[in-house]
Amino acid sequence: MFRTFIYNSNITYIKRGFCERRTVLNVIKKGDVGEKVSVQGWVKSLRKQKDLTFYDINDGSTVKNLQIIVQDKSHGKINVGSSVRADGILQKSPKGQNEVNAENLVLIGGCDLNEGYPFAPRKKYAPEYVREYLHLRPQTRRFGSLLRVRHGATVAFHKYLDQIGYVCIQTPIITSNDCEGAGEVFKVVPDNVDLLKSMVKENVPLENGFFDKKSFLTVSGQLHLEAAAHALQKVYCLGPTFRAENSKTRFHLAEFYMLEIEKGFLENLSELLQTTEDIIKKVTVSLLDTYMDDINVCANENMDFSWIDKPFNIITFTEAVDILNTKLNKPTSSKGGLLKEHELLLTEYFNNRPVFVINWPKDEKPFYMKEIDDSNVAAFDLLVPKIGELVGGSLRENDFNKLKSKIPDNSNLSWYLDLRKFGSVPTGGFGLGFERYIQLILGIDNIKDTIPFPRWPHNCEL
Ligand code: 4AD
Ligand code: MG
Repeated sequence: MFRTFIYNSNITYIKRGFCERRTVLNVIKKGDVGEKVSVQGWVKSLRKQKDLTFYDINDGSTVKNLQIIVQDKSHGKINVGSSVRADGILQKSPKGQNEVNAENLVLIGGCDLNEGYPFAPRKKYAPEYVREYLHLRPQTRRFGSLLRVRHGATVAFHKYLDQIGYVCIQTPIITSNDCEGAGEVFKVVPDNVDLLKSMVKENVPLENGFFDKKSFLTVSGQLHLEAAAHALQKVYCLGPTFRAENSKTRFHLAEFYMLEIEKGFLENLSELLQTTEDIIKKVTVSLLDTYMDDINVCANENMDFSWIDKPFNIITFTEAVDILNTKLNKPTSSKGGLLKEHELLLTEYFNNRPVFVINWPKDEKPFYMKEIDDSNVAAFDLLVPKIGELVGGSLRENDFNKLKSKIPDNSNLSWYLDLRKFGSVPTGGFGLGFERYIQLILGIDNIKDTIPFPRWPHNCEL
């Protein structure tokens, strides 16, 4: 007999011999006909027939919905968006899929569509519309899938790096250096003047009172990773990174995640390029193996992963400029490196395959990169189809005197120079934009649709 309960946390639910609660994924994949099951989730759609109501429920464990059949017409307040618990018997649908013939369907939280729930079942919405409801966005099918793929990519990076012997380092979010030296740091100051007044020391400006020096949100964990690489050799971090740049493009966020690796005893750029290529390919293959259902929901049909089987191209910066000037008729300006337009054209030129651009003019790159001659550094950018720059990396300057002459004044980096004094080794590494990687593998147009709560200029909702 079917009953509808309104959930009340004061009422103790009386178990009627139902087995432990299971996930939708688990019930869809496993179980014998006739078995008792109990699942909870949200109603994604419902169909009413004479004496039966069919509910599709989802609990986030899979993109697939589980059908719950209820033999009753008095479904009351259980409509699309509601959270429910279903207790019933597992059976097979005419198509052979597992479904639940419910004895109880318990309403946990109702969803009043008249109160302005923004999503109707089975309707497709533009990403810009969905983005207006950041707090409800995870409830959409597509964004739910995206969050699972994002999780899968996080795990895959950690797993693969662990496999090849890299140690995860928790680099600080608050730091006193601007690693990239581009003036794109957010300052960290307590929002409490009384506190600052009570702490500030003589000769320290009030706003620096908390840490006794200017402090920022990190733009990169690289310099800290270098410290760790001088003892642990192969290290990495995957954490939030902040850039105060007035960029509202499809490829920029004010807060994004960066995967950074740093390797000690690394003497040549080609080894670093190979490691970069291996990591990207291995992680992508493992995602395609494990998350195909979710990838299919997010990615457009024309996704092309053929680049996985082919070696990435390698060209020098000079060759890139030459191709742009002579073959693509898109001259670069003498200063300023490559524009996004140039990056995209170059990957198209190489048949939509990733391309490493190596050996950059030193004026285009930060102070820490290793000089290979008077005007160039051992740096690379990895450009990928439809995104442009995905990774930036380099060998690091390990010549004490050269580095000293290049370190910006007042940069609080004497400790960084120390690394070149005490057991110095050549190191190199890279930073990969995690959200741009998600854009690459899912073909997502706008980076704001790859992160749960995007921040960009004039936007810090929730
Ligand atoms: O090229 P970047 O600035 O390199 C560094 O920060 C180095 N210190 C990394 C290292 O060698 N350890 O940034 C690395 C990557 C870029 O290639 C890009 O993919 C991503 O981070 N990125 C951004 N992603 C989203 N929004 C932004 N505003 C980004 N800025 C950089
Ligand atoms: Mg860069």
